[in-house]
Amino acid sequence: MPDNRPIGVFDSGIGGLTVVRELMSLMPNEAIVYFGDTARVPYGPKSPATVSRYSQEAASFLMSRDVKMVVIACNTATAHAAERLAELLPVPVVGVIEPGARAAVKATTSARVGVIGTSGTIGSGAYDLAVRRRLPDARVYAQPCPLFVPIVEEGWFSHGAARLVAQDYLEPLLEMDVDVLILGCTHYPLLRELIAEIMGPDVALVDSAAETAREVSDVLEKYDLRRTDPKPPSHTFAASDAPLRFRDIGRSFVGDVLSVVELVDVEAIGHRPEVFSAP
Ligand code: DGL
Repeated sequence: MPDNRPIGVFDSGIGGLTVVRELMSLMPNEAIVYFGDTARVPYGPKSPATVSRYSQEAASFLMSRDVKMVVIACNTATAHAAERLAELLPVPVVGVIEPGARAAVKATTSARVGVIGTSGTIGSGAYDLAVRRRLPDARVYAQPCPLFVPIVEEGWFSHGAARLVAQDYLEPLLEMDVDVLILGCTHYPLLRELIAEIMGPDVALVDSAAETAREVSDVLEKYDLRRTDPKPPSHTFAASDAPLRFRDIGRSFVGDVLSVVELVDVEAIGHRPEVFSAP
C-alpha cells in the first residue's frame, strides 16, 4: 500500500542536509522530517554509548512525527547506532555506511580503498567491515580527519590552513596507492575540490549522500511505501539549538524549502519506549 507519511532523517547537525538534497532531487514527491542535533554536535569525538543514546533520542523524536522510515544521515551515528536502531524501530532504517561501501566496491579496480571520517567512525571499523563483507580481498586504509569538521564549519574550504591539514591527513593514503577514497563524513563533500586536488585524478571520490538516496528509493519501492498524494509534499526541519543559524546555513544546501526551523528539546523527549515497539 502506498504510504503518504514523511521520511525521517537525522544528523548531528546541518551536514545531513547533503543527504536531504539528494533525497529531494531523486524523490521530489516525498515529504521529509529532518532533525539536526545542533545542541550536541559534534558526535565525532564522543563515545559510542553517548552517540547511541543521542541517536535513539533523535529517532524517538522522528517516530513521534509518524515517519515511515528513518535515515541516519550522520556517519558517526550510523557507525555507533544503526544496528541498534534497526532492532528497535518498527520502520525501516537506512544509514550512510552501507551505501558508501557499496559504491566504493563498485568503483575500485585495485581493491585498495581509502576511507576518511571522524575519529568515532574510523575507530568503529564500520566502513572497513562493510567494504570487506562485499570484497573480502580488499585492503582498506582508514584515516581519521578530526580537524576537517571545524574547518568546514568555519567555511575554510580552500584556506591555506585547510590545505596543510588535508595534505597531512591524506599523505598516508597516497602512499598506500588507493584508487578510491570514501568521504565518510557529512562535512567532507564540502572539501571535495581540495581533497580531489591532493589525491589526484586517478583516485575516485565516493560521497555517501547520493548512494544513500538511491538505497532509500529502493527500500520505498521494495516495501511499497511511496507517497502517492498528488499535493506537493511539505517538509519539516527541526534543530535542538540555534534554529535561525540552522536555517541560514541550511539554505545553502537545500534552498528556500528551508524556511521554518522548529526548536526541539530532544532530551526532554528522551527515549520513548512506546515508539520503539512494532504497532
Ligand atoms: N555528522 C558527522 C558525521 O558524518 C560529522 C559531524 C560530527 O562530528 O558530528 O560523522
